[in-house]
Amino acid sequence: THDVHLKVPEFDGKSDADAFIEWLDKVERVFNYKKYGDPKQVTIVESRLTGFALTWWNSVQQARRTSGYRYITEWWKMRRELKERCGKPGYQKRDCPAFAKKDGLVVDGMRESVIANVQRVLLDQEETEMYTTFVRDLCTIGDGQLVGYGSFTFLALIPGLISLQNAEPINHGAGIYAVSVIPFMGSMTGLTSNTLIPHTYNIPTSVQLPSHVRVPLDWVKVNSTKKTIRYHPPEVLKALDQLLLAKEEVTVACRAAWVLFLEEFGKYYAEFQISVQAFAALDCLHSLAILSRNKNYVRPVFVDDNEPMQIHIQSGRHPVLDLILQDNFVPNDTNLDANKECCQIVTGPNMGGKSCYIRQVALIAIMAQVGSFVPASSAKLRVLDGIHTRMGASDNIQQGRSTFLEELTEASHIILNCTAHSLIIIDELGRGTSTHDGVAIAYATLHYLLQQKRCIVLFVTHYPKIVDIKNEFPGSVGAYHVSYLTSQNTLEITDSQSDQGICNLDNGDITFLYKVVPGMSDKSFGLNVARLAQVSDF
Ligand SMILES: Nc1ncnc2c1ncn2[C@@H]1O[C@H](COP(=O)(O)OP(=O)(O)OP(=O)(O)O)[C@@H](O)[C@H]1O
Ligand SMILES: [Mg+2]
Repeated sequence: THDVHLKVPEFDGKSDADAFIEWLDKVERVFNYKKYGDPKQVTIVESRLTGFALTWWNSVQQARRTSGYRYITEWWKMRRELKERCGKPGYQKRDCPAFAKKDGLVVDGMRESVIANVQRVLLDQEETEMYTTFVRDLCTIGDGQLVGYGSFTFLALIPGLISLQNAEPINHGAGIYAVSVIPFMGSMTGLTSNTLIPHTYNIPTSVQLPSHVRVPLDWVKVNSTKKTIRYHPPEVLKALDQLLLAKEEVTVACRAAWVLFLEEFGKYYAEFQISVQAFAALDCLHSLAILSRNKNYVRPVFVDDNEPMQIHIQSGRHPVLDLILQDNFVPNDTNLDANKECCQIVTGPNMGGKSCYIRQVALIAIMAQVGSFVPASSAKLRVLDGIHTRMGASDNIQQGRSTFLEELTEASHIILNCTAHSLIIIDELGRGTSTHDGVAIAYATLHYLLQQKRCIVLFVTHYPKIVDIKNEFPGSVGAYHVSYLTSQNTLEITDSQSDQGICNLDNGDITFLYKVVPGMSDKSFGLNVARLAQVSDF
């Protein structure tokens, strides 16, 4: 299949920069076509790395982990590392000592490169000598054959490097990799933040010799094959011990530094919190100020507390929709007054803008009361003691509460807690049950609110029957609907009595005008919305 040609090729990191770029190009082509995404791309490339490249990459990841960073899982980051390591024009085969390879190799060339690499990380005189002697001894054992296996982090060498400053950040030697000290650790550990710590020394930890070669008595056998035996010389064992200890020490030091940092920070926790809160408040006020200026908000007027409850808004807008729809938003007026009309029952087609309208009134009231300008051409209201809402639908199965139960719990909460100075917005109460029960619940709730509480209510419903409540509270209840045009170009501003002329228009097109106008609409045009949602196609 085509896929055969689209495999990420292997990469051993031994070739020159040109070969690397060629390889990278192939990889990119595969990824452009396959679009595996992260972290899969990293995993794929990792699985195609071999030999030196693999050892090197492992040490990069390990070094990140040791310095408290995440492993690299994004391809672009891995590519950056690879380019940094292999894409430089100066990068040549010889920079990449063979001893990182897993197979046997000739000692001579290797010794040079090890010594060169050790000098590169600029150990002090004594450390350098110790290290090079160690490696040289290791290399001259046996009949010139030596195999490295595994790699280890020679953190024991850290003390020798503390005095180093500003050396090159990444040493391009074999697996010798240095990272800067994590900045905040500086003051705790006494290291400056540009101190370099060599992280990975890929030196062989065991010596592999043909099985007939005799070795000193204190060498420890690690494992063997038919022809060869692998040993740990005592120096190696000691170094490995030291390494373990050093790793432990670093972990302890890091933990202590972190705790110290938290403690230091904790001392000023209260101050931090106060300033964060102050900034948050400032941010909020600043945003409201900018919005008010750019969107022509007005300063709301509050009437005295002994005046009747009232909300008068001219050309009110929904602060969020207004931003989204810009000039297409249709503003609406609202006039509610405890002594006159204190309740609006809003009917109209689905998608007509009912919910938006009642939300907008509540939002303007809240904005006014937090001290902001409001999205309207004028607004006059009395201070509210609360805004109670019953909107949307949700259930709570974890607590064994169905949608309808949630709905009624909220309604009962409103009934218990509202006062004559509250604003109440209720959206389609009772729609979660049969029409008969729903109408009864909606009617009874509204009746109670009007009779017992006399608070300001905006009531959205699809039940025309509810509007009959007007007769029980003459003057207090107004029927409104969101206007629309049907395909017959009839502006639907009639109220329920004279609305007989409008027969079944559910099949026609409907244009929403979003203007809230007096009168009732008993058409919901539910089928129209079904069509919008492409339900009717089936
Ligand atoms: N005043 C307005 N000006 C312009 N567009 C509006 C206005 N009000 C609402 N809309 C648009 O109409 C959409 C539907 O509004 P809304 O959710 O209020 O409908 P609804 O009448 O409550 O419908 P339903 O009966 O299905 O709940 C909104 O998402 C918005 O895009
Ligand atoms: Mg709605």
